[in-house]
Amino acid sequence: MAILVTGGAGYIGSVTVEHLRASKEKVVVLDDLVYGHRGAVDSDVPFYQGKAGDSALLSRIVKEHKLDACIHFAALASVGESVADPAKYFENNVGQGIALTGFLIRVGVRNIVFSSTCATYGEPKEIPISEKCPQWPKNPYGWSKFCMERLLESYDLSYGLKFMALRYFNAAGASEHHGEDHNPETHLIPNVLAAAAGEKPELAVFGDNYPTPDGTPIRDYIHVSDLADAHIRALDYLRGGGNSEALNVGTGHGYSVLEVIECARQVTKREIRIRIEAPRAGDPARLVADSSRIQSVLSWKPGVSDLRTIVQSAWKWRQQHPQGYSKSASQHNT
Ligand SMILES: NC(=O)c1ccc[n+]([C@@H]2O[C@H](COP(=O)([O-])OP(=O)(O)OC[C@H]3O[C@@H](n4cnc5c(N)ncnc54)[C@H](O)[C@@H]3O)[C@@H](O)[C@H]2O)c1
Repeated sequence: MAILVTGGAGYIGSVTVEHLRASKEKVVVLDDLVYGHRGAVDSDVPFYQGKAGDSALLSRIVKEHKLDACIHFAALASVGESVADPAKYFENNVGQGIALTGFLIRVGVRNIVFSSTCATYGEPKEIPISEKCPQWPKNPYGWSKFCMERLLESYDLSYGLKFMALRYFNAAGASEHHGEDHNPETHLIPNVLAAAAGEKPELAVFGDNYPTPDGTPIRDYIHVSDLADAHIRALDYLRGGGNSEALNVGTGHGYSVLEVIECARQVTKREIRIRIEAPRAGDPARLVADSSRIQSVLSWKPGVSDLRTIVQSAWKWRQQHPQGYSKSASQHNT
């Protein structure tokens, strides 16, 4: 039996595939490569290029592989772009998601792990944010994930689908063979490291007057390998008959933008110049997870998510792949 991994050529998907294969799982990757990279999927992994909800392609996949579960990473994930073009986000993240889940139910695949996000909480009412906090997203990206969570709940009640919606906080870092290569890059750590590598003269810091100790926003960074581990545990839990649920994946500890930059200076031993810019609309001061629920339900704990380890791993991957996947030195095969 194989696991269908949509978005497996993207950042978190490719790391999770690496971990799944290390756990001896069979994997099939489906990705339209709009943002993913063919080079992020090992050549001996069955790979299908196309939309997650393409029923003709999905039919071909189930003819060629016996699937027992799906990890659905495939989505567009830029908040700013979602505000500029919400239709693109609802069509891709919800429209394709509806088509995919409908197909999986029809062919009897009942276990789905879904990539959700802390963006579904919007402006948090309390910190740390627990799963009981109200969800009221502040942008179309967050709403697209919110819609998919409600859809999964309804399909659980009526069709017996079992799902785990993992609400990630800020994924960061790199595994041994896979790292973050987005274009454009909107995440802090790769942008800090690009400045350290001299690819940009200075780093823009959006706002230094937030109600935090150093005035810059605080986020909960979770190492992508710890995130991959959470997916594997979620799958095992569903396969073992566990009930559907939504769980935060974070560390419970936050770092400010300036703390991340200082850590990157120490790790890279390079100068990183910053430029303070106006705060971005809708950026909360502090987003930190209460991760006690996932620790008790999945016995999951962050193992490598201290900031220094995250930055070191991302820097190492970057030095090994200075051009990202486009000119990867080698395509790794496990
Ligand atoms: N990176 C984070 O910090 C973070 C935080 C919260 C949630 N998430 C969610 O995690 C998932 C993965 O994020 P990522 O950072 O790896 O993003 P990514 O862009 O690197 O990966 C997403 C992959 O999905 C593919 N894709 C997008 N729409 C598709 C479609 N309709 N059909 C097939 N393939 C499609 C893209 O080509 C890409 O390879 C996303 O669902 C994202 O919303 C990410």
